[in-house]
Amino acid sequence: PRISLIGAPTDIGAGHRGAAMGPEALRVAGLAEALRARGLEVLDRGNLTGPLNPWQPPRDGYRHLPEVQAWARTVADAVAAELTQARLPILLGGDHCLAIGSIGAVARHCRTQGRNLRVLWLDAHADFNTHAITPSGNIHGMPVACLCGQGPVELTTLTGPAPALRADEIRQIGIRSVDPGERRLVHDAGLVIFDMRYVDEMGMKRAMSEALAGLDADTHLHVSFDVDFLDPGIAPGVGTTVPGGPNYREAQLVMEMIADSGRLASLDIMELNPAFDDHNRTALLAVDLVESLFGKSTLMRG
Ligand code: ARG
Ligand code: MN
Ligand code: MN
Ligand code: MN
Repeated sequence: PRISLIGAPTDIGAGHRGAAMGPEALRVAGLAEALRARGLEVLDRGNLTGPLNPWQPPRDGYRHLPEVQAWARTVADAVAAELTQARLPILLGGDHCLAIGSIGAVARHCRTQGRNLRVLWLDAHADFNTHAITPSGNIHGMPVACLCGQGPVELTTLTGPAPALRADEIRQIGIRSVDPGERRLVHDAGLVIFDMRYVDEMGMKRAMSEALAGLDADTHLHVSFDVDFLDPGIAPGVGTTVPGGPNYREAQLVMEMIADSGRLASLDIMELNPAFDDHNRTALLAVDLVESLFGKSTLMRG
């Protein structure tokens, strides 16, 4: 695939400042060079622009809703432009609210092309809050709900009629923090979640085989990688750490199994926060994992 990197330097939906520095940290960690070393063509499109973070308290249950809408729209347009040119967009976040834009654009692209869609949501959090139940008002805790049609009309119809996505098109992996009201909503939505208890009991191989089951030659696979998916011991550079995440080996297997599916067509790398990192080690780890996602393996297989 021909790859396009799109930087979205904002922390507009987050509860801590600093994810706006994520795109440059991934560049400094050598993301483009690592992909090129795999023989891939990579264009770095540079950074998108949008409103600054006004750091306001929530209004009607949302923090920064107009600014989030502006950023998500810009992201959606940029991702759509790459898909139209048959390129593989990698969104460099930025906080996870921007997935409303990237996945909204991907879903719209799939609908017009008559392609099937599968979204893998790698995260410690379900990100299925609404204004009525959010503990924080931070919209990075709401993108999956918005994509499934639950949220403010400014976000649920960003890329077309709501819902952008059906719950049965999503698989969540690594989940270990779900807020009290959110628990009920993900259950009622019928979201398929391989939480950390499932991973502990069944193993990551089983969780990933099930999450990837049913892909066909015509399926667009989108991976939304919230870096807080990873255990904080190996990935301290995020704003919302939750203990008990996948270790290095489990995370590598996740990426290898996605690569083996051969279906990866778009990617988000989100929530990397250099203000919390230790000498960019979390960005370096993300690049290491993305190499596996694009097919790097120890031995020849098969
Ligand atoms: N559930 C919490 C909230 O709604 C945290 C969400 C964290 N989301 C993320 N993309 N890191 O505020
Ligand atoms: Mn998260
Ligand atoms: Mn039930
Ligand atoms: Mn997230």
